[in-house]
Formats: sequence, C-alpha cells, structure tokens
Amino acid sequence: MKVIQVGIGGMGETWLRAVQRSPQVDLAGIVEIDAAIADAQADAYQLDRSLIFNTLPDALNAVKADAVINVTPPRFHREICVTSMSAGLPVLTEKPLADTLVDARAIVSVAIESGLLCGVAQNYRYRPLTQTIKAILDSGELGALGALQAEFYRGPHFGGFREEMAHPLILDMSIHHFDLMRLFLGSNAKTITARSWNPTWSWFAGDASAAAQIEFGGGLQATYSGSWCSQAFETSWNANWRFDCERGVLRVEDDRIFAQQLLSVDEGARGLASIHDDMREIPLMAMKREGQDYLLHEFCQAVTSGSSFATTAQDNIHTMEFVFGVMRACDGGETVRL
Ligand SMILES: NC(=O)c1ccc[n+]([C@@H]2O[C@H](COP(=O)([O-])OP(=O)(O)OC[C@H]3O[C@@H](n4cnc5c(N)ncnc54)[C@H](O)[C@@H]3O)[C@@H](O)[C@H]2O)c1
Repeated sequence: MKVIQVGIGGMGETWLRAVQRSPQVDLAGIVEIDAAIADAQADAYQLDRSLIFNTLPDALNAVKADAVINVTPPRFHREICVTSMSAGLPVLTEKPLADTLVDARAIVSVAIESGLLCGVAQNYRYRPLTQTIKAILDSGELGALGALQAEFYRGPHFGGFREEMAHPLILDMSIHHFDLMRLFLGSNAKTITARSWNPTWSWFAGDASAAAQIEFGGGLQATYSGSWCSQAFETSWNANWRFDCERGVLRVEDDRIFAQQLLSVDEGARGLASIHDDMREIPLMAMKREGQDYLLHEFCQAVTSGSSFATTAQDNIHTMEFVFGVMRACDGGETVRL
C-alpha cells in the first residue's frame, strides 16, 4: 500500500518510523508546510526530496497513492481528511478527530457518504498494559465492574499549539484516557459533571487541570482527575487506574497491574473483617504489534482486504462527544447529558 503522509513534525516522526518499518507500506509522498522541518526530516530519515510537497492537493496531483496518513495539528484535520476522501482515498488521522464537534461530525458525514475508511489513531488502546487490563476485566475473574478511577499528572513543556488551546489537557491528552474508559467499560458516556482550572504557575493559556465524574451506560461510574502542570510525582502517560469489581479490585500504578480478590467476609467479626487473597502482580501480555505499528497494520489490512477497523470516525465520534461533553460541563458548570 502506498501512502501520503501529511505532517512530519513531532508525532510525524513516530509515523515516519512506523511507515519505514512496515513491510506492507511505502511512502508515495510527503506533505509538510514548514520548509525547515521538511528539510531537517529529509536528512534525518533519508527522504526523497522530490516526493515532498507543500500542500495535499499538490501531492495528490503528482503521485499515485492508496491512502493518506494525517499527522497535522487538530485544526487542520477536517481539511486534510475531507480532501483525502474527496480524492477517493481512505485516511488514517491522528486524534483528536477534529478540534470542534462540528468539524468531527462533518468528517464522519463524508466517511459515511463516500463509504471510505477514516480511521482515528487511538494508539493508547494498542499497548500491552491496556490490552492486559481489558483481558482481565473481560475474563470476569473479578466479577462485574462497577466503577473506575483514573488519575493523570505530568508537566510537559511542549510549546506549539497545545499551549494556545482552551482545554489542552482534555482535548489533547485526556482524550486518550476517555477513549480507554469507553474500551474498558464497553459503553458510552451518558452524564458528565466536571471542573477545569489553570494552576497559577501554568505555562498553558487554557485550563491545564481538570476533574470529572462520568456516568456510563448501565450506571457504571468513572472518576477522572488530571493535570499537565504537575511539578512532581508524575504518573505514567497511561495514567494510574483503579477498577472496583464485584469480587475484587484491579489497580494500575506506574504501568504495573495488581489484583486482589475478596475471599470471604468473617461473620465472626460481625462482618467487619474482609478476607482477601494476597495481592498479585499480573504480567503484561505480549503483543505482536503495538501502537502505531498495530494501527498501520490494521489500517493496511482494512484498505487492502476490507477487514474491519475498530476506531473508525463513526465509532470515534462517541469519544469526541465525551471529550466535548467534559469541556462543556467545565465551561457551563452544569451536568451535561449526552
Ligand atoms: N497519539 C499520540 O500519542 C499523539 C502524540 C502526540 C501528538 N499527537 C497528535 O498528532 C497531531 C500532530 O501533533 P504534533 O505534536 O506532531 O504537532 P507538531 O506541531 O509538532 O507537528 C505538526 C506538523 O504538521 C505540519 N503541518 C501543519 N499543518 C499542515 C498542513 N496543512 N499540511 C502539511 N503539514 C502541516 C507542521 O508544520 C508540523 O511539522 C495532533 O493531532 C496531536 O494531537 C498524537
């Protein structure tokens, strides 16, 4: 499969490496609006300069491709996705699907009307940690899941578009954790209460900290707290998690998974003593492909042989409605019902 990659800046490098590693995918062309970045990356990745274009239409006119990979900042996602599908090409786009719900819905409409795949890169799903958590929850060994908690604290200094966004934490980062909640709970957010704020020492223009309480289908509860302005005790990018189940608890801390099960309740102690098994650490499952490698393979299979792709734009609109619902709850102070 031949692809045009649009955007070869920060995250674009990760995709360039995934494309260069893939035995199934070749670069048909590259689009980069910043000449200095194009030049530096051409040297770093031995790219053919004759295949680097300024705009996607220029690349579409000049080279033959089967698909597009979009790694531009969110405000360009609608333009790139719609231009790709209008040219008859499926597209794999970075999250968030768009930077407004209107644009995200417009992309979904074009995907539905054209019948073309628009896949969204929710790469946090395709990590051994995530897949192991999902497998334990689905196995039923801890009984039914009732509630989960996630906490995320880091202090990255990115510069660039994130420092200008109204809700950088929620739209650019928590979107991964919210999408994982959908995966773990197997349902969509229904009601949301949330607050966001910007610490006095923040280097972001918009709110870099937030807390939210979310009710999912079936009454499942999720509690989230996070910050991109944390100055110490950072969590992993995957966040720390706690899953409260009918017969035990699963805890995820610093990318390690621990489980403890309830064995019995000591009636002799008037029901005040719960007897548990020893806490055990659960080894992470091995994956043949992870992250971008997984997504690129899944996308390639879907484009070339029509197999399914999990995080299509049609599916991802539920993650977008969730994310924008949290931002609306923060801005309006009211409970948001989706
Ligand atoms: N999934 C993840 O783990 C993850 C991690 C980081 C970033 N991202 C996402 O990747 C996307 C890009 O983020 P980034 O950190 O690489 O941003 P960036 O600003 O570092 O890089 C974006 C690149 O796109 C180029 N560009 C911008 N508009 C363009 C256009 N119209 N045509 C061609 N090139 C254009 C810029 O010049 C730049 O080189 C964002 O949507 C971001 O949320 C995802």
